[in-house]
Amino acid sequence: METLRTVAQVRDRVRRVRADGGRVGLVPTMGALHEGHLSLVRMARRDCDLVVVSLFVNPAQFGEESDLASYPRTEARDAELAAGAGADLLFAPAVAEVYPDGFATTVRVTGVTEHWEGEHRGAAHFDGVATVVAKLFAMVAPDLAYFGQKDAQQVAVVRRMVTDLNLPVEIRVGPTVREPDGLAMSSRNVRLRPEDRERALSLRAGLDAVQATIRDGADGADGADGADGLDSAVRAGVEAMRSRGVEPEYLALVDPETFAPVVDLSGPALAVVAARVGDVRLIDNLPVEASA
Ligand code: PAF
Repeated sequence: METLRTVAQVRDRVRRVRADGGRVGLVPTMGALHEGHLSLVRMARRDCDLVVVSLFVNPAQFGEESDLASYPRTEARDAELAAGAGADLLFAPAVAEVYPDGFATTVRVTGVTEHWEGEHRGAAHFDGVATVVAKLFAMVAPDLAYFGQKDAQQVAVVRRMVTDLNLPVEIRVGPTVREPDGLAMSSRNVRLRPEDRERALSLRAGLDAVQATIRDGADGADGADGADGLDSAVRAGVEAMRSRGVEPEYLALVDPETFAPVVDLSGPALAVVAARVGDVRLIDNLPVEASA
């Protein structure tokens, strides 16, 4: 596997594959690869003739300087892991290659970014994500791009952007990969202090409590899948987290496409959660059904 640093290099490789009728897959990452990323690389390998993994720690999507500074940077290890999972190219551009002098364009997706991550991390977060993903699509020109379900709101934002801008790329989503004890894999997990590792399971416990309360029939006046039932399911989730010593930033039931809060379970719903565990901010989500 080769590591390329410039847009011209990556375009040249993509052009050659496409000239032979090949399909190009892109797995955008910020590095610190784990099994979640590698499962996406394997998906791309099955579908595509050229698999490009991008590695770019995008400064534009970090609210806190400290989070950007402490984001793990492990390029040599990432290159080995990506190659082992079947990637052909690692595209690891410098900041100046992505944001050259005078860069003045922002892609902003409204609506789907209004709540949850958009609210808690600030509007600049999804502006940064949408802008860099649009740029990666323009730089690499993939036929298919792969994202993880763990970042469900990011997936919804990218899908909205692709539809709205008629971008010629198909989005494929891989399931959340979890540690054996249920913790969703994340590049940030390595920063959890040993004493916080157990408490990090509270996110999954909160989501499970929401699902279990709905499944068992919440005691609200309008039943488990009406507004009262959903409120008590969310309360049960919050309690499950607090009993493990973690206060959620948010825990909510949302429409998986628009990320608007849901008021009943007549359509698909996703339980979404974020919490700070020690110094580390974690997110997770789980599809929820009226009767599982
Ligand atoms: O999910 C991530 O790692 C990032 O948000 C992405 C999609 C690579 C954009 O920087």
